[in-house]
Amino acid sequence: MELENSKIRRIILAEHDVLRGALRTIEAGLGKVAEGDVPAQITARSQLKQLLATFLKHIEHEERILRPVLKDIDAWGPERIAAMDSEHKEQRARVEYLSGPLGEAAPTKWVEEVRQFIGHLREDMATEEQDCLDPRLLRDDVIVIDGFTG
Ligand SMILES: [Fe+2]
Ligand SMILES: [Fe+2]
Repeated sequence: MELENSKIRRIILAEHDVLRGALRTIEAGLGKVAEGDVPAQITARSQLKQLLATFLKHIEHEERILRPVLKDIDAWGPERIAAMDSEHKEQRARVEYLSGPLGEAAPTKWVEEVRQFIGHLREDMATEEQDCLDPRLLRDDVIVIDGFTG
């Protein structure tokens, strides 16, 4: 069954809310991590791991349900698709970096990179909400041509 545009919009926005909550949770512990607090490091590393998994699922979900409707929604469809594709490609590389080499970094470096990622995600969600998830863009109504009977 196809999803209505308004439903797609609500689903993606709800996922953004979950991600924003996870970002706040991680952020709250970063001060302690930077000070060298070991339990805080363990907690933050597992929170980040969870966040990255949730985020990967989110972008897959956007590609599955949002990408196809953006394509035909208006004249800027192809540009929106291209922007999503390149953004997601870059984000997957960031996730890979954060899950791999960064794990060995000193706590202060780790915190710096995680803060940067948090900032990036917040910005990305705000941009997406403005450019792809505006209710005026993702509407359910169809254009009816008055008097046209075929
Ligand atoms: Fe996205
Ligand atoms: Fe998103």
